[in-house]
Amino acid sequence: MTLRSVVRGVGARLPDTIVTNDDLAARVDTSDAWIRERTGIRERRIAAVGEKTSDLAEGAARAALADARLDPADIDLIVLATATPDLTFPATATRVQSALGMTRGAAFDVQAVCAGFVFALSTADNFLARGQARRALVIGAETFSRILDWEDRATCVLFGDGAGAVVLEAQPEAEADGRGVISTFIRTDGRLHDLLYVDGGPSATGTVGNLRMQGNAVFRRAVEHISEAMVEACARAGTDLKDVDWFVPHQANQRILDGVCRKLDLDPAKTISTIARHGNTSAASVPLALESAVRDGRIKRGDLVLMEALGGGMAWGAALIRM
Ligand code: UT7
Repeated sequence: MTLRSVVRGVGARLPDTIVTNDDLAARVDTSDAWIRERTGIRERRIAAVGEKTSDLAEGAARAALADARLDPADIDLIVLATATPDLTFPATATRVQSALGMTRGAAFDVQAVCAGFVFALSTADNFLARGQARRALVIGAETFSRILDWEDRATCVLFGDGAGAVVLEAQPEAEADGRGVISTFIRTDGRLHDLLYVDGGPSATGTVGNLRMQGNAVFRRAVEHISEAMVEACARAGTDLKDVDWFVPHQANQRILDGVCRKLDLDPAKTISTIARHGNTSAASVPLALESAVRDGRIKRGDLVLMEALGGGMAWGAALIRM
């Protein structure tokens, strides 16, 4: 029996504290005008002291479960994408599992930085398609504020904290009514390590480290690789890009979203952008954007949605889903 991973619910959790561009201009040599013109970002959320990635992930998971009208006991798999885990180990996903009161199933983290949610979704989809789990929470959650160099204006203005989640349920294809994950595409190229990485870690330095990025070089790769991933995910499904109802991209820079639209001749009105309010929340950005467009009624049941993301590694990918 062929199984489809159908989206049952979506959820989000953002920290309460809003940090504006002007707030940052008071700390480093930058301006609201520069940040808005170069990135589209107006503000971002920053986690409170003591507020951990797992806290945000739990909040998003509970919202997604409520949306799906399910309980934690209905879930038998958690795949959590993060590059900012609570601790080096155990997996932050297991913290979420215990916080939700789940006593069965498995929970683990996936690490593909900003592309993490697409990798986690692809992983969970494979588990569900093989019948190895029935219902999965797929979460993207980050506290990038903890790994930023707050003296480096070229990076500290770009990122924010948050979490988004979806509940996937394995349903027989014959009963899924065309809904579910249709295709995924994931790709990495480790030769591009130096373009975007954190300069600390338990094995290499024994420190947490700070994010380092060659923004210009990443920008150039982003449009090229994201476009490749979107075309490939559609090709695998035998779908034309023109048939996609909504594009839900990783929110790194409004100019990247615009560049992809130009390159692939896409209607910018079909692209969900939350960059102005959230900044770049790494693995959380795609589910946060998805949730906001579902909540405001733009993305509806039955719509064809193409997600894409790219980040450190480099890692990139795309996922085509009928909601
Ligand atoms: O999520 C993972 C993937 N990440 C991305 O996709 C990020 C991709 N990269 C980008 O979005 C852009 O490259 C940035 C937003 C990071 C930078 O924009 P840019 O247009 O590429 O600027 P730039 O790095 O070429 O810098 C232009 C100028 C420089 O000054 P000079 O050398 O021209 O005098 C920078 O020092 O802007 C300066 N600058 C700033 N000025 C004010 C850099 N950061 C700032 C700042 N405020 N925050």
